[in-house]
Amino acid sequence: MAGEWTLGIESTAHTFSFGLVDGEGKPRPSASDTIRPSEGGIHPREAADHHVELSTTLFSKILEDNDLTPSDIGAIAYSQGPGMGACLRTGAAAARTISTHLNVPLIGVNHCVAHIEIGREQCGCDDPILLYVSGGNTQVIARLDGRYRVLGETLDIGIGNMLDKFARKHGIPFPGGPVIEKKALEWLKENPNPSLEGLELPYAVHGMDLAFSGIMSAANKLVSNGKPFEAVCWSLQEHAFAACIEVAERALAHTGKTEILLGGGVACNQRIRDMSSIMCEERGASSHCPPRMYCIDNGTMIARLGWLELNHGRTTSLLQSGIDQELRTDQTPISWP
Ligand code: ATP
Ligand code: FE2
Repeated sequence: MAGEWTLGIESTAHTFSFGLVDGEGKPRPSASDTIRPSEGGIHPREAADHHVELSTTLFSKILEDNDLTPSDIGAIAYSQGPGMGACLRTGAAAARTISTHLNVPLIGVNHCVAHIEIGREQCGCDDPILLYVSGGNTQVIARLDGRYRVLGETLDIGIGNMLDKFARKHGIPFPGGPVIEKKALEWLKENPNPSLEGLELPYAVHGMDLAFSGIMSAANKLVSNGKPFEAVCWSLQEHAFAACIEVAERALAHTGKTEILLGGGVACNQRIRDMSSIMCEERGASSHCPPRMYCIDNGTMIARLGWLELNHGRTTSLLQSGIDQELRTDQTPISWP
């Protein structure tokens, strides 16, 4: 008899990760590994090779960490999209193999929706506005009529991608976001009352949408013109995060909802967490953020969404199990409360 645990496999980009939820949908920390290119951006083929090499190790590790054997697994969920084709294919292939071998159901899930659902589970929020800020995605989302609808999003690059590119230009390897956060804190330590004068960057809000490549170019120019790198890191965070928080606030106002939920890798940043809390406090709303291990890409969130889908009657046949690099947040029907 198959077990009651759901395994989740995440492989949309740099990170390959296996996670689990138990029969009640309760999450367990993932076993993950992230490829960090020594120079330049991510090469999808190299990332895919990294993922393939690690499949067996990570699968064994997640079972060992939880004192389980393969027969305890009752379903396999994997990221079906969006993401890089070569990376997605490795996760899907691993999922098909394990599902066929164990003869248990396969569930292809939407990576963006998984970020949302792990956040709801961890924070216990009911009907939040989601501020999803990651490397590839920047979206403000609300649930409406059985879908997560995108109310606003980046018109060019994701906010994390912008931070990583800016960092890379100044010699900082991937992931640049956490280093920028550290540099900004160093600037604040030296300048307890900092001023944005001389460090202004363009406005990134366009109606309900956002844009980040202009901010990045302007930040690069400030550094070329001799502004201290730490100061520019601080200003970049202030401008880019304020833009996201402004759109999220407008989404609260338009929908009448009263909760904000942060998700995605950039939600690890303490400054964006604080800005969200301040904004929510000012309008009598509440701000929520899952633990950092569930903000970055992780297999557990895939397992959690797979468990939800399975319990609401959806599985994926082998024929339907192909990946979809362009899968949109609002393409996935939401049939659970
Ligand atoms: P998605 O497919 O959802 O776009 P992703 O591939 O970007 O996900 P995530 O793990 O969700 O992966 O996010 C990674 C991003 O988060 C990177 O751009 C990284 O720089 C950023 N990040 C991580 N920690 C921080 C931090 N403390 N401050 C700012 N950015 C951060
Ligand atoms: Fe992600």
